[in-house]
Amino acid sequence: MSILLHKKVLIAISGGIAAYKIAFFVRDLVKNGAEVRVLMTPKATEFVSPLTLATLSKNPVYSQLNDSEGNWANHVELGLWADVLLVAPATANTLAKMAHGESNNLVLTTYLSARCPVFVAPAMDLDMYKHPTTIENLALLRKNNVHIIPAEKGELASGLVGEGRMAEPKTLMQHLEEYFESKATLRNKKILITAGPTYEPIDPVRFIGNHSSGKMGFELAKEASSRGAEVVLISGPTHETLQNQSITLHKVTTAQEMYDAVFQYYNEVDIAIMSAAVADYKPKTVASEKIKKKEETLTIELVKNPDILKKMGETKTNQFLVGFALETNNEVVHAHEKLQKKNLNAIVLNSLQDKGAGFQHTTNKVSIITSDSQHDFELKSKEEVAKDILTFIEFQIRKK
Ligand code: PMT
Repeated sequence: MSILLHKKVLIAISGGIAAYKIAFFVRDLVKNGAEVRVLMTPKATEFVSPLTLATLSKNPVYSQLNDSEGNWANHVELGLWADVLLVAPATANTLAKMAHGESNNLVLTTYLSARCPVFVAPAMDLDMYKHPTTIENLALLRKNNVHIIPAEKGELASGLVGEGRMAEPKTLMQHLEEYFESKATLRNKKILITAGPTYEPIDPVRFIGNHSSGKMGFELAKEASSRGAEVVLISGPTHETLQNQSITLHKVTTAQEMYDAVFQYYNEVDIAIMSAAVADYKPKTVASEKIKKKEETLTIELVKNPDILKKMGETKTNQFLVGFALETNNEVVHAHEKLQKKNLNAIVLNSLQDKGAGFQHTTNKVSIITSDSQHDFELKSKEEVAKDILTFIEFQIRKK
């Protein structure tokens, strides 16, 4: 299986003769299972046809900030979509503009909006490539964490021979593969993650639920997948969506359904992270018709739901088991109780006392607790929290 499978690769082409080689590169990326989108500077469209690239990438190709009907090409969305952005060929002109933050075309605005790693493959004539200005621009880009794929020596479009040819598609591929390999720290690991709330029905229209949005669990799943793990995400009802097709999403509604789904996979996984907010109780009976408004009060008898995490702890073989604890008081004490009672390797504590932490927010503030350690983290985005949790787990399983 190629490391590029399901990776989202955004290719930005600027106007150089090497643009024609990108057609082959796009074809090879798609063959390796990558999802590819292509952007072009207006000049690049004179070197290779957008139709060729749209056909090969199986996606529309954009070269203008807005099309003839006035529709805006959303560079922010493209920048957020990509796992990696590769500007190839990167002309001296585009490199200079990237280095100095200019934004007068779609390639440049996307570069400035991208949160993913950026690679550039310079391509120009030899004197332009060794000109001090180009060298300075490349140094500036490198300083801003742009990966430079050096130009190669050979015959140039001018007829001169020297350094300045864009690296061959094979080399571009190697750079991307090496990058994704280096990120795949959880390759060959299978991870089970739960997310979101559970809904316990009262009657056909009502349920007992909670405020979990699923954000924390979805961020964990995305991060684990980007580190090369095979991820099964079991989620209660949520508005969160996944663009990542390599994650197996198993949707459930009730705690009992979550229990059944968890134990369908539990035996085969190396790591389990339980971030779902599972209802502890459910109505003893579910009315088959909508309950009518009659008396001043209504009593619903509740019975305990299975404690999924506890059962996982009891039946644990070799899995690294991580629970979450959502607390409102005596937080650390309660987290330690859960850690011990549920036989966990670690527990992630978040407290509703902390502003910006817990349900719904895009941020969280956590402590990761084991029987003999506690790591307290600052308030950060759930995306960053997911990274901290997975880095911690990786460190622990390496020690095992
Ligand atoms: O979804 P978000 O809006 O992003 O919010 C994230 C979150 C606040 C839901 C998340 O960070 C979190 O704290 N999840 C756990 C919430 C919770 O139910 O905590 P708890 O302390 O009640 O449960 C302890 C652990 O036991 C949890 O791992 C829970 O998944 C598990 N559990 C609980 C009850 C039950 N019947 N079965 C379980 O497996």
